[in-house]
Amino acid sequence: MTDQDLQFNSWYEGQNETDDLLHDAAANQAEQENEYSLRPQKLSEYIGQTALKEELAVYIAAAKQREEALDHVLLFGPPGLGKTTLAMIIANEMGVHLKTTSGPAIEKSGDLVALLNGLEPGDVLFIDEIHRMPTNIEEMLYSAMEDYFVDIMVGQGPTARAVHFPLPPFTLVGATTRPGMLSKPLRDRFGIINALQYYKAEELQEIVQRTADIFGAPITPEGAYAIASRSRGTPRIANRLLKRVRDFAQVAQQQTIEPEIVQTALNKLRVDQMGLDETDHKLLNAMIDFYHGGPVGLNTLAANIGEEADTIESMVEPYLLQIGFLQRTPRGRVVTPAAYRHLGRPLPAEFREDE
Ligand SMILES: Nc1ncnc2c1ncn2[C@@H]1O[C@H](COP(=O)(O)OP(=O)(O)OP(=O)(O)O)[C@@H](O)[C@H]1O
Ligand SMILES: [Mg+2]
Repeated sequence: MTDQDLQFNSWYEGQNETDDLLHDAAANQAEQENEYSLRPQKLSEYIGQTALKEELAVYIAAAKQREEALDHVLLFGPPGLGKTTLAMIIANEMGVHLKTTSGPAIEKSGDLVALLNGLEPGDVLFIDEIHRMPTNIEEMLYSAMEDYFVDIMVGQGPTARAVHFPLPPFTLVGATTRPGMLSKPLRDRFGIINALQYYKAEELQEIVQRTADIFGAPITPEGAYAIASRSRGTPRIANRLLKRVRDFAQVAQQQTIEPEIVQTALNKLRVDQMGLDETDHKLLNAMIDFYHGGPVGLNTLAANIGEEADTIESMVEPYLLQIGFLQRTPRGRVVTPAAYRHLGRPLPAEFREDE
């Protein structure tokens, strides 16, 4: 253990009582505002997702030339990859207003009408978690998206009648972590459908560098890379780890963030060399300890480690699949030899024979 490690251990232990303070509403608010200020405003400032960016730039330029609303856009991919940021950029580049809501927030048809009614021609309506919209609201969106009108039922019983309500041309940007849960009619009404990919370490390095510049926290390229390579391909995680590493560097009175302090901080945060955290470890170890590495069904696994099946499926598992630590088979999830090796667990006999 180095001196620096010792210094941190004693300091870190003392911090645990105050940890709860970090989770109060005010701190959350601050964190959210912080995230807002970190969001790039223009397509040219948005790092990575090159193919998607190039495509969008063409569609935006074409729509502007024709003075039309941009076609509806569906963005999908794991949390924290920049869907909300991209929705904001789209509105910004189109030079229109952005209205933001989320699927579960639209409870009644009146809520949707109120949102649509406030739109000016060309505006962007951003619906986050669009897969969680009530079915009747979703059905109202069909005509709104396709022909810019909604029919609202007024009155009850025999005197009930539909009132035709025209809307200005607008762009719906929908975001979802679960594209498979979107109904086909809704999906078909989006003209532009795109997946966001996990970021390469070099791209995340650029994001970390950019965020550090905004914070006024000096960081070496190697330091930025060290954070980037342990961020699960995800900008939100990269920015969060940077904030914590900055805290460690500050307390250690280290002016510039270098790989050593990154290593120290991330070890303390129990983020391993591949960027896996305690939940990842719990999941993989449970599969090895209780199910011989699988196959095991999602719900069984969720119950075993005390996480929601939905959380595992949309937040934990995608990255483990991406790096080849998990495989999905018709009979359930299976741990791969690469994961056994990474965890330092002995390979089961069936794998050893293959090697
Ligand atoms: N391409 C990028 N370049 C720079 N920063 C980015 C990029 N993408 C995302 N970020 C940063 O990462 C953070 C998370 O992005 P964002 O909130 O847009 O993700 P999201 O996909 O909407 O996540 P969720 O699914 O959880 O809503 C933001 O603070 C943003 O500043
Ligand atoms: Mg978002």
